[in-house]
Amino acid sequence: MHNLRDGHGRSFEYLRLSLTDVCNFRCTYCLPDGYRKQAGKPANLSVAEIARLVCAFAALGLWKVRLTGGEPSLRAEVLDIAQTISGTAGIRRLAMTTNGYRLAERAKDYASVGITSLNLSLDSLDPARFAQITGHDRLPEILAGVDAARDAGIESIKLNAVLMKGINDGELLAFMDFVERHDLSLRFIEVMRTNDNVPFFRRYYLPAATVIAQLERAGWQRLARAPGAGPAIEFAHPAGRGRIGVIAPYAKDFCASCNRLRVSSLGKLHLCLFGDFGVDLRPLLADDAQQDELLGRIEELTRTKSLSHRLLQNDSGATPHLASIGG
Ligand code: GTP
Ligand code: 5AD
Ligand code: SF4
Repeated sequence: MHNLRDGHGRSFEYLRLSLTDVCNFRCTYCLPDGYRKQAGKPANLSVAEIARLVCAFAALGLWKVRLTGGEPSLRAEVLDIAQTISGTAGIRRLAMTTNGYRLAERAKDYASVGITSLNLSLDSLDPARFAQITGHDRLPEILAGVDAARDAGIESIKLNAVLMKGINDGELLAFMDFVERHDLSLRFIEVMRTNDNVPFFRRYYLPAATVIAQLERAGWQRLARAPGAGPAIEFAHPAGRGRIGVIAPYAKDFCASCNRLRVSSLGKLHLCLFGDFGVDLRPLLADDAQQDELLGRIEELTRTKSLSHRLLQNDSGATPHLASIGG
């Protein structure tokens, strides 16, 4: 079995694959003016191209794929793509990160094509504030989606709340209570600065340390990091149910445990979320006969992954917004 490794001792078993950069929400920190169509943009990877791509990564030892976007459920072929990936030899987990659009009606379909985990944005539990943040008055529909996903037997459901000073930080106790009542897993995410949100970032960035202090005051205890775990620092309450994670990309050692690679909806390999323009793999996705060359290229590029993202540098804005490469 091959193994994807970089020059800093990290190995990669997890691919985040963006299906589209289109999104129907207008989250204030991401796409406040909504998605804008770009004339002359190439078509997204086809199902056949995705099949070859995932097959190559699986041959290199990768076993988990997360579908991202934009909003991946807007891709007409989403079920077909999911079925293809979950049926690829070697792929053991298929996850999706979604804004919850149509989840209530589609959860069963997602489970039936092999989606095993869903991460769902939920930045507020207050309907008016939810509408203010996302541009859509849809909180009840999203919460119904969470229930539908559980009923459909999706094994892992995690909620994501991006923290914004003076906007939703007053809801921390309400979120803790929600997690305990519903026995759910929720992660608080520090807002990240991108090219497009600099004034927003300056005004609303809330350091994770503030949240960690509140969690600890409320009795939540930090858990030891599990081997191969994702970017969140996890907490549990000894007297209650549910889990809370904190994703703090500005923390010093955030990248040391990086376990993921990304491919954009147009087929560019991004070794990091920030500070990298991506390398086009599409020319190697046209034919099965190119698989060996594709494998070699992925291995060679992965070896060059840099030790850390460039969020702390002024030129980190190589990423216009996270919707373009799937967060
Ligand atoms: P799992 O471990 O598969 O659950 O993935 P996850 O928690 O990383 O997935 P999700 O798509 O829910 O991402 C949650 C948040 O973490 C998003 O805001 C991502 O943009 C952020 N994030 C995920 N990976 C990275 C990373 O490598 N670098 C940075 N800076 N942020 C990341
Ligand atoms: N900072 C932090 N999180 C972000 N997301 C999108 N843009 C940003 C940003 N600038 C989050 C969404 C979603 C996840 C996929 O990425 O809220 O939970
Ligand atoms: Fe869409 Fe997600 Fe960006 Fe919100 S954060 S605008 S749901 S891509």
